Amino acid sequence: MNTKIVTVTDGVCPADRAAILQAARILRDGGLVAFPTETVYGLGADGTKEQAAEAIYRAKGRPSDNPLILHVAQPADAEKYAYTCPLFDRLADRFMPGPLTVILPVRSTVPKTVTAGLDTVAIRCPAHPVAHALISAADTAIAAPSANLSGSPSPTCAKYVISDLAGRVNMILDGGACEIGLESTIVKIISDTEAILLRPGGITPEQLQTVIPKLAVASAVTGELAPGQVAESPGMKYKHYAPKTQMILINSDDISRQKYILTHADTCAVLCYHEELSLYNAAIPAARLFDLGPKDDPSVHCNRLFTLLREADTAAAAVIYAPLPKTEGLGLALYNRMIRAAAHQILQL
Ligand code: TXA
Ligand code: MG
Repeated sequence: MNTKIVTVTDGVCPADRAAILQAARILRDGGLVAFPTETVYGLGADGTKEQAAEAIYRAKGRPSDNPLILHVAQPADAEKYAYTCPLFDRLADRFMPGPLTVILPVRSTVPKTVTAGLDTVAIRCPAHPVAHALISAADTAIAAPSANLSGSPSPTCAKYVISDLAGRVNMILDGGACEIGLESTIVKIISDTEAILLRPGGITPEQLQTVIPKLAVASAVTGELAPGQVAESPGMKYKHYAPKTQMILINSDDISRQKYILTHADTCAVLCYHEELSLYNAAIPAARLFDLGPKDDPSVHCNRLFTLLREADTAAAAVIYAPLPKTEGLGLALYNRMIRAAAHQILQL
């Protein structure tokens, strides 16, 4: 398949209009379009058409039991596809458009391919202007997982969408780097006062708690599924975000971690805080040294993580070392992605 790649900025300027209209036509005809969102790039198809959604699974190599998120232009559109409730309305008022996905009971308007046969559906209203323009122009809900091949890190810029999906999709809208860089926060509504956090992201648990009186955190967010344990979200059971190189997270104070890494400097790649670069510079070549950003700014770590995992994987290192993140605030999203990238290998020093 020939993949058309077009650069866009805000989805509404005259230069973008033709690209958005063409992309919307491709979606209505059952094709695939990758597009930027504020979290990561999405691989979109018309979420109301069974066959269009099937094409997503084929293009990504995605297991058929892992459901897709439906992206809507405004929160009010959720009601066409799901049974909403007052708690959804409160979450939507506070966090939509934005990096939040809400799991609700599904209506019969949604094809089984989108929900993988579950009785619930994931709804998200992205804030990115290009995503918004595309959904509005397509005049439907867009089913979209992250625009990577199944198992590799979600793409935070078009370069990685192109390397994973060129030849497999009809069009890629290149809107530059994604602002957040990790996928949306996912919550499942249980009652008008209760919800479960299934995947942490740009909206933190602390922010959710301002709207949800009882917020539980699914055990798979911070731990490994026990053998035979049923995942609360199907995506939790798959190995995700995995670099091919073995990755080990180090749980210790900064000095012990730095000493340990320096004794393994010959063969390792390192994800470190910006302040530590000078410490490693003499011992570790730049090609194996990766700057996560300032230690006290987890939003930068989130923003860089997936790009660094892809880059560290090309460094021909025996192992990638990184600090184990804290679990407060945005740290929980980082922790969740990093323990999975490291296949839960944590070194306690
Ligand atoms: O930020 C994001 O959410 C990005 C952008 C493109 O919007 N999308 C994204 O999609 O990360 P994906 O498919 O890579 O991750 C969606 C996750 C999967 O782990 C899936 O199992 C879960 O959402 N999911 C979807 N529908 C669900 C449902 N009804 N119940 C529980 N989990 C669900
Ligand atoms: Mg994904």
